[in-house]
Parts: sequence; C-alpha cells; structure tokens
Amino acid sequence: MSNFIKMNLRPAVVLCLLAANAFAAPRTINPGAVWPDDRGKHIQAHGGGVIKVEDTYYWFGEDRSRDNERDRRFVSCYSSRDLAQWKFRNQVLKLANVESLQPGWVLERPKVFYNARTQKYVMYMHLDGALPGEGKGYKFARVGLATCDHVEGDYSYVKSFRPLGHEGRDIGQFIDDDGTAYLIFEDRPFGFRIAKLSGDYLAIEKEICLVPAHLEGGAIVHYQGLYYAIGSALTGWSANPNKYATAKSLEGPWSEFKDIAHPNANTYGSQSTMLLKVVGSTKTTVIFMGDIWKPRTQWDSRYLWMPLEIGDGKLWLPEPREWTLDIKTGEAVIAK
Ligand code: GAL
Repeated sequence: MSNFIKMNLRPAVVLCLLAANAFAAPRTINPGAVWPDDRGKHIQAHGGGVIKVEDTYYWFGEDRSRDNERDRRFVSCYSSRDLAQWKFRNQVLKLANVESLQPGWVLERPKVFYNARTQKYVMYMHLDGALPGEGKGYKFARVGLATCDHVEGDYSYVKSFRPLGHEGRDIGQFIDDDGTAYLIFEDRPFGFRIAKLSGDYLAIEKEICLVPAHLEGGAIVHYQGLYYAIGSALTGWSANPNKYATAKSLEGPWSEFKDIAHPNANTYGSQSTMLLKVVGSTKTTVIFMGDIWKPRTQWDSRYLWMPLEIGDGKLWLPEPREWTLDIKTGEAVIAK
C-alpha cells in the first residue's frame, strides 16, 4: 500500500470507529449480576450515590474489596457517560480509625456533593461503631465529612458530628432541580430527617422536615412537581418491602407510606440507596438504585438498578430484568 493511501486511510478508520461508537446500541444493565468495571472487576460502590458533573456521572460507594487493609475503611469512585459502563477512578478515601472506635467500626453509605461555588467535592458518610467501654453495636451514630478539590481524591477527612444534634445513621443525598442540596439521615428515636446543606456544603444549615417513619436507605426524587421519598424498614442486611410516600413540598405533609413492589417480593432482595433522575431529550427516567447485600461476602454484594414506573403520585418497581438506557433520549427499555 502506498504511503499516501496509508496516511489517508488511518483518519478514515478512526472516523468510522468513532461514528460506530456514537451510534452503538446502549449497553445492558443486568440487575443482580456481577457488574464489571473497565478493569473487569466487580464494582465496589455499595450503599452508594451517583452525581452528574457536566456530561459525566460519578458513582461513589463503600469499597468492600476482599483484599482491603483491615484497619481502614474505603470509598471508591467510578465514572461513566451512559450509566452502564463504569471506569474505576480511584479508592478516593482510605480512612483510618480516626475516631478511635472499637474494631469492627463502619463507614457506610458515602455520598459526594459537588459545590460549584467553591469547586470542592464534599463527601458525607455514616460513621458508626462503639467507643471503648461502650459495649458493641452502632452507638456512635454520626455523620463524617471529607473534602477534595478533585473528584477522584484523595479526600481529606474533616470531622464527624451529630447532624443538628441528632443521631445520624443511614444517610441519603438529594439534589433538587434548583440545585439545592439536602442530606437525608435516619434519626433512630424519631424517624428520618431531611436537612438542607449550607452554601459551601460543609455544614447542615437547617432541618426541612422530620418524616416520622422509621426508614433506612432513604432517598428522594422530584418528579413532575411531586417529591417521592423511599426507604426500607430496619432489618439490617436482610431485605424487606421498601416503601414510598409523596409530598408537594419537602416540608410535607407526606402521604402515608405504600409498597414499591409486591410485599412478598421483599424489594427483590434489595435495599434502596438512591433514586436517580435521568432527563433525556424525549423522556425522563427515574432509576431505583438498590443494594443486594451479602453480609458474609460483602465484596460480592450486588446492585439492583431498575427504571421505575412513576407518576401521578404512584411509584412501582418492576420485576428485575435486563434493561437498556439511551442516555441521550432518556428512554429505558426493559427486556421482554
Ligand atoms: C442496614 C443499613 C446498612 C448497614 C446494615 C448493617 O439496615 O441500611 O447500611 O448499616 O444495616 O446491619
């Protein structure tokens, strides 16, 4: 082949490949299956949350890799443009036992917010365990805070605190359409609280609502003028029928809680962690993000992500099946 042809063929081949990629069919999301990242390793982002910064989605969660150092707790970050294929970015936090808790302490449900004003990434997490002499169990009940100038770490631990003076157990993250950021936290004696973050996200500014329901894995989505809140009952790692309520404003009043699926299905073995809204050119899809916990082999815990049937005050989790999401149009197609 002449050099002339070679030189002109290469850009053409590259263009063809780019074009093929642009029109490639969306990748399948397979609820409950091993979900490999770009390295072929099962994603470690349990109890996680997803944020979108420009065109990229970032998924943060508990990294429970089997070979993690035993004295630390880990948070990992992955990125994606289509919510199906995830690139491992980093173990963004490798937290030592900074609060001097007894062995067996936990860092759970990390959630990262991007503050456009300060250009900082702010991570909230649930820190728990017991201080020496306190017995065992989840007694600490605090929120931990860590920050970073870059999405992929390393995050610096700032402090832990009781949110607005209350117990803080499972946390959830909600960013409203106007960009306001909220932390949801379970306050065991009372229910779950929705609280607004301060302008720099480094503190909790005020309580918006106490929903007097005992729910973990709390999550909220704002869809067609209504707020939908979901959560699970307090059954630890075992699945239970997750429930939802609606309200016209975050302050409430909230409706009674109803099942998100047939109660016998036990949320198909999963527990809520987030409701992710994808606004496309023709459709808005709300994804239920849940964890299928495997308490004895935590590194193998799975994810149950499904597009919800939602609208007019109703929310329903369809039976899990493989599905695809067209990230441009927002259209989700569940396999027959
Ligand atoms: C669940 C909670 C998990 C973890 C687990 C421990 O209820 O949602 O994040 O704390 O209990 O038993």
